[in-house]
Amino acid sequence: MGSDAIERAIKIFGTVFGGQPLFLAQAPGRVNLIGEHTDYNDGLVLPAAIERHVVIAGRPMRAAMIRLHAAAFGETIEIPGDSPANADPPRWARYPQGVAVELARRFRLRGLEGAIAADLPIGSGLSSSAALEVAASLAFEHAAGQAVATRERALLCHTAEVDFVGVPCGIMDQFASALSRKGHALFIDCRSQETHHIPLPADLVIAVCDTGVRRTVSNSSYAQRRQECVDAVRLLRERKPSIQSLRDVPIDDLALIEELPDSLRRRARHVITETHRVVQAAQALESGEVEKLRELFLASHHSLRDDYEVSSADLDSMTDAALAAPGCVAARMTGAGFGGAVVALVERNFQDAFLQSVAVEYATRTRRDGTFFVSEAAEGAQILELT
Ligand code: GLA
Repeated sequence: MGSDAIERAIKIFGTVFGGQPLFLAQAPGRVNLIGEHTDYNDGLVLPAAIERHVVIAGRPMRAAMIRLHAAAFGETIEIPGDSPANADPPRWARYPQGVAVELARRFRLRGLEGAIAADLPIGSGLSSSAALEVAASLAFEHAAGQAVATRERALLCHTAEVDFVGVPCGIMDQFASALSRKGHALFIDCRSQETHHIPLPADLVIAVCDTGVRRTVSNSSYAQRRQECVDAVRLLRERKPSIQSLRDVPIDDLALIEELPDSLRRRARHVITETHRVVQAAQALESGEVEKLRELFLASHHSLRDDYEVSSADLDSMTDAALAAPGCVAARMTGAGFGGAVVALVERNFQDAFLQSVAVEYATRTRRDGTFFVSEAAEGAQILELT
């Protein structure tokens, strides 16, 4: 561990609650290397956690009241531990509240004072919400002297986001934040929920290129895409009843989607080809054929731009700027789209030259300043005792 968010969380804790926190719960954000908009179609994804976190500095309390202060909002909220649904906090606090509701089904929550700080930008497509949920779960579990299994933690955080906050996301982000391993990407089969860790080449770093254009996952376009996939499946099932999700259409059976209405056909084509690209990207990483990633990332970006229609002029410019920069192995938009960030894999020796070039090139193309940083693939969420 070790980040500026930790220091800030500890400092804010002292200011708001007085004294010292007794533990830290830290959960990373993520980039998705490839496999976009496939998780809610039972498909495959390949995210990696990044060295940017949501941190909760916590101290258990005797009274069964959870008090949380979020530095980013300058607000302190209260969630009753014995009836966590009985509070009507501001929107940011709905995420930890939903987690508390899920945990309260499993064990008795105890009181907690917690100061939340983050070095993960909000709304950049780097999963700040999932990181907040997973950090909150760890903090609430720890305060209560309990620990749920890592996979269950990811799943209950996902349920909190879907059922309580009302964002119809897939499981990728919570899994990535909870289960990632340092130096590895996390391969997730979103149907079986099986995962395995794939080492990233030691000579590559992850570069995050944030367009500066914010997005919210809860906006209607994400829900609309999900619905279009459901509609496509319904029509496909009329022809082939065994199809339960777009995962069930194999890449060599693309003819099946030919008769779908144009926009549904393109949505389905993205999901089917993207799932196949995840298999190919995982193989390329495992066999050390890194140069194949360039083509796969680019095909993914084009498919998201043209078939799934979730890219933007800024994301396209950022991808072009990244691909033109020194040391860039591969680049594409990452996350839900409609703004947010581009992920690039960059040769470690070129990282400074890459960052310099992509920043200038993006600003020239868009007259906008992006935000850029590099990261190793990070470890998933964890607790650190301070006593
Ligand atoms: C958001 C969602 C994820 C996933 C991506 C798109 O990040 O939270 O579940 O659907 O969009 O791949």
